Amino acid sequence: MAFTPRVFSGVQPTGSLHLGNYLGAVRRFVAMQDEAPCLFCVVDLHAITVWQEPDELARATRHVTAAFLAAGIDPARSIVFNQSRVAAHAELAWIFNCVARMGWLSRMTQFKEKAGRDRENASVGLFAYPNLMAADILAYQATHVPVGEDQKQHLELARDIAQKFNFDYAERLAALGYGEEGLFPLTEPIIQGPATRVMSLRDGAKKMSKSDPSDASRINLTDDADAIAQKVRKAKTDPEPLPSDPKGLEGRPEADNLVGIYAALAGTTKETVLTEHGGAMFSAFKPALADLAVSVLAPMNDAMVRLLADEGHLHAVLAQGAERAAEIAGPVLRDAKRVVGFVA
Ligand code: TYM
Repeated sequence: MAFTPRVFSGVQPTGSLHLGNYLGAVRRFVAMQDEAPCLFCVVDLHAITVWQEPDELARATRHVTAAFLAAGIDPARSIVFNQSRVAAHAELAWIFNCVARMGWLSRMTQFKEKAGRDRENASVGLFAYPNLMAADILAYQATHVPVGEDQKQHLELARDIAQKFNFDYAERLAALGYGEEGLFPLTEPIIQGPATRVMSLRDGAKKMSKSDPSDASRINLTDDADAIAQKVRKAKTDPEPLPSDPKGLEGRPEADNLVGIYAALAGTTKETVLTEHGGAMFSAFKPALADLAVSVLAPMNDAMVRLLADEGHLHAVLAQGAERAAEIAGPVLRDAKRVVGFVA
């Protein structure tokens, strides 16, 4: 029996969301609602793997929830919730801590980047982070996970964990009536579109990131029209005109990035953007890009302001989402515990 299609993805409530999060992930979430049942999670357990001011964490959780809804995620259709409210994530993550191997986690590039040189001082949670991510996905037997490119390695690890669990407990699973495919699916990452890795506006070799000290490096979803126009105007570029096809973007990371952003915002491809703008200088392309960004982000921004003014509604969405999520995760966790041999 194959797994029923189900989509899961998560966003950390750390700082405000930026254009990379929107184009690489949230905008894709909105589209996936038409394809399968979806769960979208504000991953507050993940956030505390590095220090978060408690008030700020709660604020950021509301902020990400509001961004989900403002972008077009429909909480009546999709399940929107925060991770810490559904205990199954932490419980399954513990089991996965005992399935995943030290060597697997030691190879995770995100841990190496985030821990930096001072590894001794990184939290244990930061090291075990991908196991919790696997638990997020597998507690719902999710088959598809839309993410930006930076999450690819973590999703490969989730597949390794699923496979090892299914293999190690194959006999017990068979006794419970599970077939060849076991309890956990080998989840497919969905990394698609022209903006799976949006780069910094100041440096085409660096990812656009919440943690970049330069605010000019990213467009925040909360930036107003003036801020957006100014950041696009100041974005680093080269002196050449735009090429007329994507091959001409090779070796031009900043140009490639701006064309990718344009394509994603317009819901089209780099090819189409270059058919239209090939030969243009950045002095002409940048104002067009700024106008497009404002036309997409401004209505979302207005919706976010309205949503954030009604905390009661956001809390109700999260509470109801958590209840619905727990109903799906409950039976999966129960079977995972049974096969491990926990006495209930
Ligand atoms: P996070 O919170 O860092 O980012 C949220 C989503 O945004 C994508 N993203 C980008 N996409 C394109 N260009 C960028 N510059 C860029 N920066 C971020 C990320 O790929 C991600 O899809 N570990 C995850 C959260 C998580 C999760 C999960 C995701 C926890 N559990 C289960 C999927 C499934 C993270 O830190 O994302």
